[in-house]
Amino acid sequence: MNTTVGLDIGSHSIKLVELSKDKNGLTVRAAGSCPTPPKSLTSAISADQEALAIAIKKLFADCGVTNREVAIALPESQVITRVLEDVPQLSARELTSAIQWEAEQYIPLPLAQVNVDFTILRDAKQTGTNKMEVLLVAAPKVLIEKYVHILELADVTIVEAETEIIAASRALVRTVPTVKTVMVVSLGAQTTDLAILHGGVLAFTRSISAGGEALSRAVAQGLDFEPAQAEEFKRTYGVEQDKLEGKIVAATKPVMDTIVSEMTRAIAFYQEKYKGERVETVLLSGGTARLPGMVVLIAKALEIEAQLANPWVGIQKGSQFAALDAEGAVFSVAVGLALR
Ligand SMILES: Nc1ncnc2c1ncn2[C@@H]1O[C@H](COP(=O)(O)OP(=O)(O)OP(=O)(O)O)[C@@H](O)[C@H]1O
Ligand SMILES: [Mg+2]
Repeated sequence: MNTTVGLDIGSHSIKLVELSKDKNGLTVRAAGSCPTPPKSLTSAISADQEALAIAIKKLFADCGVTNREVAIALPESQVITRVLEDVPQLSARELTSAIQWEAEQYIPLPLAQVNVDFTILRDAKQTGTNKMEVLLVAAPKVLIEKYVHILELADVTIVEAETEIIAASRALVRTVPTVKTVMVVSLGAQTTDLAILHGGVLAFTRSISAGGEALSRAVAQGLDFEPAQAEEFKRTYGVEQDKLEGKIVAATKPVMDTIVSEMTRAIAFYQEKYKGERVETVLLSGGTARLPGMVVLIAKALEIEAQLANPWVGIQKGSQFAALDAEGAVFSVAVGLALR
């Protein structure tokens, strides 16, 4: 059977999804997650990288995934993503050299040190002008080499690599087909990534270096807790105003304010550029989106309808995967990778 596999190695957890596609549509063949060995993702020490490879190998075995050709997610914070407007209508070959030149303006690293990739988002016909919109993605070669090395140790071959938010957007935009403009947010452990999509096409991305870990630290400091206790309280009470006399909400407010203000800026930027357009819905994915009260807090702060993301919409899965229903938000990136 032909399957596609998505592997999302986060700083907190590793997510794996295998899908198949036939005349009956998409089906989940395997899915699972496991903790990321502490610090292994950022470490240059070979023992740490080996520990990560062992964890990945075990996850493949535990989930029963035998297909070893995978699409992986690259951390948004280390990859440069830009939507270039006003690109003259060019052929793919002309574009390849033109983009190299364009790239120099946006990439703070020598071009020899990055892999530059581009995708035409909308051609001149679709924009209705004589210009195209092109997505430029530049990933440092050292970053790619690190992933290739770790995955080689895990006996896995990378067939595709893309950023987390691009993968999550692919998984989630299809779940709200009637919404014209949507913001997809991935609330992870160390970062919060966001994208605004218009008619399913990417218009804007941003990565913020705050997420679930910053919230846990704020709880630990504000309530004078040990880290493990802070994590437990965070997960139990979340950011619901009426819990613990609002103490967790108060302690985490500075972090939430940072996240919300970046979202507000992104929306303002988008709406300034596309006059008359409005972000209608916000889809919240990632582990931190599951925090009790998170969806309500963000909806209120932005005054926009928000939903917990569910990438399983339109994908069949057997009863053995029932436990995944509640975990959809966490698997958004891995599902999007497998949907490539
Ligand atoms: N049920 C839950 N309720 C609240 N928070 C949760 C829950 N499950 C996970 N989290 C939080 O979500 C974060 C992990 O989410 P996720 O697995 O999406 O991160 P990651 O992809 O590993 O991180 P990153 O993308 O930032 O590298 C942790 O900070 C954790 O505390
Ligand atoms: Mg993540």
